[in-house]
Amino acid sequence: MISKEKIDEIKASVNIVDIIGESVALTKAGRNYLGLCPFHGEKTPSFNVVEDKQFYHCFGCGKSGDVFKFVEETRGVPFAESVQIVAEKAGFQLDIPLSNRQVEKTNHPHQVLYDIHTEANKFYHALLMTTKMGEAARNYLYQRGLDDQVIKYFQIGLAPQEANYLYQHLSKKFSEADLLNSGLFNTGNANTIYDAFQGRIIFPLTDEYGRVVAFSGRIWTESDLANKQVAKYKNSRGTAIFNKSYELYHLDKAKPVIKKQREVYLMEGFMDVIAAYRAGIENAVASMGTALTGEHVRHLAKYCKKLVLTYDGDKAGQAATAKALEELKDFNVEIVFLPDNMDPDDYIAQHSEEALVNILTKSRLTGVEFLIQYLKPENPDNLQMQIDFLEKIAPIISQTSSITAQNSYIYKVADMLADFDYQQVEEVVNRARISSRQQRQESNQIPQEQHFEPPRQEVIPQQARITNLIRTENHLLARMLEHAYILNDYRLREDFYFITPELQVLFDILKTNGEITSYDLAGLDEFVQRAWYRVLEEKLPQEIGTNEIEELESNRYREQIKRDNRMKLKTVREQSHVGNDDQALDELTKLIAQKRNME
Ligand code: CTP
Ligand code: MN
Repeated sequence: MISKEKIDEIKASVNIVDIIGESVALTKAGRNYLGLCPFHGEKTPSFNVVEDKQFYHCFGCGKSGDVFKFVEETRGVPFAESVQIVAEKAGFQLDIPLSNRQVEKTNHPHQVLYDIHTEANKFYHALLMTTKMGEAARNYLYQRGLDDQVIKYFQIGLAPQEANYLYQHLSKKFSEADLLNSGLFNTGNANTIYDAFQGRIIFPLTDEYGRVVAFSGRIWTESDLANKQVAKYKNSRGTAIFNKSYELYHLDKAKPVIKKQREVYLMEGFMDVIAAYRAGIENAVASMGTALTGEHVRHLAKYCKKLVLTYDGDKAGQAATAKALEELKDFNVEIVFLPDNMDPDDYIAQHSEEALVNILTKSRLTGVEFLIQYLKPENPDNLQMQIDFLEKIAPIISQTSSITAQNSYIYKVADMLADFDYQQVEEVVNRARISSRQQRQESNQIPQEQHFEPPRQEVIPQQARITNLIRTENHLLARMLEHAYILNDYRLREDFYFITPELQVLFDILKTNGEITSYDLAGLDEFVQRAWYRVLEEKLPQEIGTNEIEELESNRYREQIKRDNRMKLKTVREQSHVGNDDQALDELTKLIAQKRNME
């Protein structure tokens, strides 16, 4: 037990303002400090910390106490543990024997599982820090940029290569049944029991109160690294104290910082959270080898409402980001998009701690900005791809509450697409808003128990899917098909080409074969096939008008210039956006000259 004198000494060596300040944002108000009460929800601060008397009092809910009481209340731990926590912050080394601590603890039904994990954790950590094999494993961690302080902070350990080293150690203290329930052991043939983790670097997984509830082990030896069959990470199975759909790595230590900064970084891997910590960012957590679940989200919502998604920059990470956004509808979400397929740990290794801080704090996208990037057409000239993209992004943009943000998204989207300008995109977004409103009304009229999938309305009506330019070119190609002499005229014009790429493909075939057979069609890209049927659907009068072809030509010319100007304007905006003002000015001058010519 800790003596009364020792407890007083610990209390005297800390300042309650600092300790509470770790989790509550405090401002000096006269002789006291004032903040938002952590014990009840409030919008105007009534939580006082009285520095000269070293206690807190909330005028809103009436709670008060000293530094230990505060730790007890906010961490949900008993008194003795709060003393331990404060002592650690003050730099005291209190080696309380485990048995004493146990007595102090409330009698949790799964206490023995926590104790097994505490013991296993000590065992693994000591093995890493003090043995010969530990030295080799530590070298692996050093080489990945970790130092002893970081290794201790995250309590990283090492599971020996042996089959049941941990079991032998723990079976002196715990029963076989309890050990088998801990998830740290498996049974083999003839009732042999062996360690679940062997030859792996061990990351203890804690619950939000800092209790070790599971482990994850990473391969590190040359032979394992070379062997593609061995899983890189292996986690404890689910147990009475470990639900991997709920727990978040590092949440216990990140908690106070999350409250203070009012935001949390969500990352994919343990090593990413560790990289953030190395760079001084302590409010990062990771899910444990699973996708983000609703349970994770509700867990995080206890601490803040703003989340910075920092998944890997690769394809899988982007897909996971898009999926997580769906789970995070009630959060204010920002996204850090890391370049070159990197994760935060790769980024710190490639660049520096400062660079990681920079990218994490300064280059964030909104959810919609991310989705615009993520969904954007691979080929922005391809009409069908542009339409598909608009169909997906317009409903998302239409749900943005801020009009200013909405306008800027519409600009961004219009900038990306060859065949749509601002007005056209805006119209599609408006249409999406109306159609989602209609769908909501319709589904409200349907009785609850009946499963009802409202018919998916097309955001872009058939007719508006075709730009003037394409309409004109379709018309022209249709006439070529009907009248061999028109086709022939164009065959002879070496400078002629269709601006719509799909139509040019068809025209190339026509030029050489004089027709397009179903055999030709079958070998063509899907977009070209669709373009072909659009041409066949043209309903034109039998007779060709006197100036019909000439009018088509001049129409085509006008539309082409308009399109060129649109593209130039986009370049101007892009260039000035990235700071290339000279280039932007140059393009703009050309554009103005062009417009004068047209008038
Ligand atoms: N994971 C897992 N099982 C695996 C691979 C990964 O449970 N076989 C989980 C781990 O929680 C890991 C996370 O998924 O932290 C992210 O995996 P990955 O991106 O592949 O690993 P990194 O975080 O990059 O790990 P490292 O840097 O150590 O390679
Ligand atoms: Mn990594």
